[in-house]
Amino acid sequence: MKEVYLDTYGCQMNVADSERMELLLFHSGYTRTHEKENADLILINTCSIREKAEQKIFSLFGHLKPLKEKNPDLILGLTGCLAQQEGERLLGKVPHLDLILGPDHVENIAHAVDCIRETGKPMVWNMWDERKNYSIPKLENSSLRHPGASAFVNIIKGCDKFCSFCVVPFTRGREKSREAEEIYNEIRQLVDQGAKEIILLGQNVNAYGKRGMDRPVAFHELLYDIAEIPGVERLRFTTSYPRDFTRELVLAYRDIDILMNHLHLPVQSGNDRILSDMRRGHTAQEYLDLVAMLKSETPGISLSTDIIVGYPGETEEEFQDTLDLMQQVGFSSSFMFAYSPRPGTPAALLPDSVPEPAKHERLQKTIEHQARLTETQAQCFLGKDVEVLIEGRSSKNGYEWKGRNPEYWRMLCSGPSIKVGDRVKIRVEAFSGHTLMGKVSKEEFAGAL
Ligand code: 5AD
Ligand code: SF4
Repeated sequence: MKEVYLDTYGCQMNVADSERMELLLFHSGYTRTHEKENADLILINTCSIREKAEQKIFSLFGHLKPLKEKNPDLILGLTGCLAQQEGERLLGKVPHLDLILGPDHVENIAHAVDCIRETGKPMVWNMWDERKNYSIPKLENSSLRHPGASAFVNIIKGCDKFCSFCVVPFTRGREKSREAEEIYNEIRQLVDQGAKEIILLGQNVNAYGKRGMDRPVAFHELLYDIAEIPGVERLRFTTSYPRDFTRELVLAYRDIDILMNHLHLPVQSGNDRILSDMRRGHTAQEYLDLVAMLKSETPGISLSTDIIVGYPGETEEEFQDTLDLMQQVGFSSSFMFAYSPRPGTPAALLPDSVPEPAKHERLQKTIEHQARLTETQAQCFLGKDVEVLIEGRSSKNGYEWKGRNPEYWRMLCSGPSIKVGDRVKIRVEAFSGHTLMGKVSKEEFAGAL
């Protein structure tokens, strides 16, 4: 068999795409290697959400050049969002590239590699086919996937929101949902292979069911249906968008026992003028109202978010509104970013007016503020018993296992006769950042499964 080296940058969607490419290539005679030096095919699955991510990738390709010089048969491919956005222009920037393949063409990876081997010519595959439905067909022998206790399942791709700062609508295209039946079948198969927790994945999962389906199903209906599949013990989804959050979805949190007590709901800013400039389509108060509704229907729900500081024109007072909103919601964790202009987005036409040192300072303040919020919540877990789904081994001193609790805190734990896939009760004895640590509680044991 030939060998493929695969490196992934960016979000969970990219991780899922890489897994899919690995599987498709396996059917075409490639096994995965972790040594670039031995590979017949090197694929770098890229991210272009911020400038830093992009720079990293160009420097990486510089380092790959000697391998290509040593082995001219090596195929070097760049996939993912940067491939979609830059397309053919990349051949000018990285002349030793053989393949440029956008996220919409993941299913064609093996075919593309075969074509390059036959013709010896570079190939660029980044056009959109708007008529094509979103489908991830089942492959023979997909047992290769080994899902683990917690498994991601793509349900929707693309984004129609066009937030002013974001490249995703350009790199991932329009929102398209997968047929529900295909999703249920994939979940049944994952459960057969040992998965206990299913995390539904998409840029904007709560827009599910709006476009691209022959038999539309609303997102909350999808959740109720999945909860009925035997063997699914925990259910989550990410990422969602405030404006698409329906009352029915709030009630689903209340009514579906296995829907875990955590929601990732990006807010980006706490200031109405900035939110409007960002074209988010809601005010800070509307976001807070939604959070209040969620908290009243599902007490104890934990919320995490994405935040951008230093958006063009953001003043110190407007930035302060973001810190205030974080405080009001009490996020358990946040992904925090300094604004980075992305070519082709509306915001990139505005002067990037907040100086870098000010952006940096605001980012630091946001990180410190979040650390305080996280610590306050971590304190509340001390001495309590929490349920953990064991996902794997940990190398941290004194704790042999790792997993997550329902509120999506990372958990490190130890105790007798634990194995992957168990749900165990852990008495929390310490914490560090967004990680809780403890031992199996003596009184309680949710049961080896
Ligand atoms: N600059 C900084 N952060 C960004 N994000 C998206 N685009 C940009 C940008 N141009 C952040 C948003 C989004 C997350 C995935 O990345 O917070 O929710
Ligand atoms: Fe980007 Fe906005 Fe779509 Fe999220 S909702 S992917 S930030 S355009």
